[in-house]
Amino acid sequence: MRSLIVGTGSYAPSRILTNAELEKMVDTTDQWIVERTGIRERHIAAPEEATSDLAYHAATRALEQARLDPKDVEMIVVGTVTPDMPFPSAAAVLQGRLGNKKAFAFDVSAACAGSLYALSIADRYVASGAVKNALVLGADTLTRITDWTDRNTCILFGDGAGAVVLRPTDDPRRGIQSLHLHTDGATWPILHQPGGGSRHPISQKLIDDHSHFVKMNGREVFKIAVRALEDSSLEALAANGMTTGDVDFVIAHQANKRILDATLDRLEIPASKCWMNLEKYGNTSAASVPTTLDEANRAGWFKPGSSILVMAIGGGMAWGAGIIRW
Ligand code: UT7
Repeated sequence: MRSLIVGTGSYAPSRILTNAELEKMVDTTDQWIVERTGIRERHIAAPEEATSDLAYHAATRALEQARLDPKDVEMIVVGTVTPDMPFPSAAAVLQGRLGNKKAFAFDVSAACAGSLYALSIADRYVASGAVKNALVLGADTLTRITDWTDRNTCILFGDGAGAVVLRPTDDPRRGIQSLHLHTDGATWPILHQPGGGSRHPISQKLIDDHSHFVKMNGREVFKIAVRALEDSSLEALAANGMTTGDVDFVIAHQANKRILDATLDRLEIPASKCWMNLEKYGNTSAASVPTTLDEANRAGWFKPGSSILVMAIGGGMAWGAGIIRW
């Protein structure tokens, strides 16, 4: 058995922050941001909106498309590094808000690769027959841990959530064919949130030092990202006896247009096959892949059997790629 995506949904908060507004907050320009990243604007969660709220809207849209009653979901996995609170999980809060009592629910922490990690876990449950209806999300409010005085990072991030519903299929030519995950824990310092955990618990000093915000060595992340996305994509293709020419569509984590252009170039996949939306959302971390998938799906890109190469990378460093047949 394989797990088939039978519904997708996404949600972006209504408040839009433009590059022009950022020009007034830090020493940057619209031109620099567009040329170096491809981002023009991003959505910011309202003060009363937390990650599970964004997830709730994405989930209800995906469930509606799948024609599945929220009460019948048996498993909820949320990829996130910005849960509503350290515990319980955003998935547990979401389960309660959906009025669901059946599903076991938990979060997966793999930063921007979170939704691929979550999808991989749910895939194992559904394809094995252990679970019939799984709800998988990527949801993050990265702007809550963004340092608005740091121009290296604050221009990049936005908030959002994306969701997919998985059900089993007997047709081996459809569904998730394989997902390949990797981690290089030695590289964690290049992208992390130092404060607020067990190593550096919340303190006034930590807040004064801005240690509760994301820290990033962008150049290092960039270099590792291109290589890792290329390697894992080739691994996923080889595992399915495919070459890059067999790829109908690419759904990739939207971190930086230059990272994606370089990766597609190395793979010799035309950019026209890759759905792009970072122009309007920025980097939404774990929300990026399922949001992108939802937009392409609702635009009518996919036909039954279409081959989709998915890829993502984030803090950890954690990354992965895979092949999905629609
Ligand atoms: O999901 C994974 C999450 N993270 C990423 O994907 C990030 C990956 N990295 C990147 O996207 C890029 O490295 C950035 C967009 C973050 C930076 O672009 P870059 O081309 O690597 O620039 P850089 O860091 O090499 O900086 C070039 C210059 C520097 O000035 P100097 O030292 O050459 O004088 C920076 O200080 O650009 C400066 N700079 C800026 N200038 C205007 C850095 N940020 C800004 C800014 N506006 N916002």
